[in-house]
Amino acid sequence: MTEAYVSVQDEAKTTGPLTTESGAPVADNQNSETAGIGGPVLVQDQLLLEKLAHFNRERIPERVVHARGAGAYGTFTVTADVTKYTRAKFLAEIGKETEVFLRFSTVAGNLGAPDAVRDPRGFSLKFYTEEGNYDLVGNNTPVFFIKDAIKFPDFIHTQKRDPYTGSQEADNVWDFWGLSPEATHQVTWLFGDRGIPASYRHMNGYGSHTFQWSNEAGQAFWVKYHFKTDQGIENLTADEANKLAGEDPDSHQRDLREAIERGEFPTWTVQVQIMPVEDAANYRFNPFDLTKVWPHEDYPPIEFGKLELNRNPENIFAEVEQSIFSPAHFVPGIGPSPDKMLQGRLFAYADAHRYRVGINADHLPVNRPHATEARSYGRDGYLYDGRHGRSKNYEPNSFGGPVQTDRPLWQASAVSGVTGDHVAPSHAEDNDFVQAGNLYRLMSEAEKERLIANLAGFIAKVSRDDIAERAIDNFRKADEDYGKRLEAAVQALRG
Ligand code: HEM
Repeated sequence: MTEAYVSVQDEAKTTGPLTTESGAPVADNQNSETAGIGGPVLVQDQLLLEKLAHFNRERIPERVVHARGAGAYGTFTVTADVTKYTRAKFLAEIGKETEVFLRFSTVAGNLGAPDAVRDPRGFSLKFYTEEGNYDLVGNNTPVFFIKDAIKFPDFIHTQKRDPYTGSQEADNVWDFWGLSPEATHQVTWLFGDRGIPASYRHMNGYGSHTFQWSNEAGQAFWVKYHFKTDQGIENLTADEANKLAGEDPDSHQRDLREAIERGEFPTWTVQVQIMPVEDAANYRFNPFDLTKVWPHEDYPPIEFGKLELNRNPENIFAEVEQSIFSPAHFVPGIGPSPDKMLQGRLFAYADAHRYRVGINADHLPVNRPHATEARSYGRDGYLYDGRHGRSKNYEPNSFGGPVQTDRPLWQASAVSGVTGDHVAPSHAEDNDFVQAGNLYRLMSEAEKERLIANLAGFIAKVSRDDIAERAIDNFRKADEDYGKRLEAAVQALRG
């Protein structure tokens, strides 16, 4: 227990007696009321009933993915002029500060799972801007395993618990990845050195998808965000992580909280890659394919901000567990791209919030706008607090209620063709393996060795040869040497 933690407890002064939920003084919080000394408990002991009933309802559903996480508040500061690319007000001036809330997470584990595991880390950032909350719900990886939202539930089922064994199964993981060659790039990333960050502070964040920025004149650009850790990248080896996960399951959460308590505020340098919209059609990779990066030599990252985390939440349930982030929360000057994954996410998150936290989730202190107010005609529902008072609940109205602006948040995009279950278009250099191979060839010999060992250790657990072989074949297609070494390593382990 740290000193800072203790002092917060000491400050929690109470005035007056313990009460029931409705405020009546409690006479005895140790003994329930019985009929006689040894007799049964009475229904009139409302304190007992209230305590048991409240306790039964203390848990809300955990997030179906990214259940395990930690969050902190902070500040985003603009460091360069990007007004020729976006009219977002929070980016309008160098030096301008915006309050943020960031929730980090792992993906596959349940709420109580250890932090030090091989898994992507979530990087969910809420900017409390004066034009509404802007949520950037990214990861610590610039790419993802799949490129169409229709595959997401299947993918996640393979990462989570098998319906029969109740455990994560190597068979399911490698069966899906083997049959989804587009995962080869992200899997190479995940089993490489950056697959287990040492802490949330020592990793980068990425918006991952391509988004649209548009300026005051209505000119649009495609952009990708990068958050580069100023603490330096630090990772754990598989052995270090296994040990830490057992000894200190809350390692990442504790590290973040304690660093902030010590006044060591973690920071990230924020960059953006900007592609003129005219480039998109003929770019060598499909710029809306989430399994691909835009190589920096094509679109060099431009620095435009600094992110600092400097305040811990006071109450993890209220502020972290009930926090909600949606890729559909845009502000003027920022919008979606046609990335098929992003389009699916525009629906999925708000739907999850309605189920997990409820229809008024947007109005909880951590979720509501802090630099403006929400002025919608959405009303009522569970746990509505009456914030609209007597104001009219329909629009248009003649009583001075809020009205539309007639200006869309983002610019229109040109589309063509017929409807259909289309495969996303491939550009000149696109295939599922090219960037995985490039990433492999960038690694040092020692990095390659660790990558092969990490992959082989997991593939060797697969029970069927055909599933293991198909999985290995994808790495061979990325790079002959990669596949050959992996095959030999798996064979050595399988005997
Ligand atoms: C179509 C693909 C995807 C779907 C359908 C999907 C769906 C979801 C859902 C339902 C949640 C739980 C939300 C909640 O209960 O509040 C979630 C959480 C999350 N997802 Fe995704 N996801 C997808 C892809 C991605 C990608 C590509 C990224 C990163 C680039 C990502 C990052 C996150 C993060 C960081 C969280 C945790 C949010 C938080 O901290 O509350 N997801 N996702």
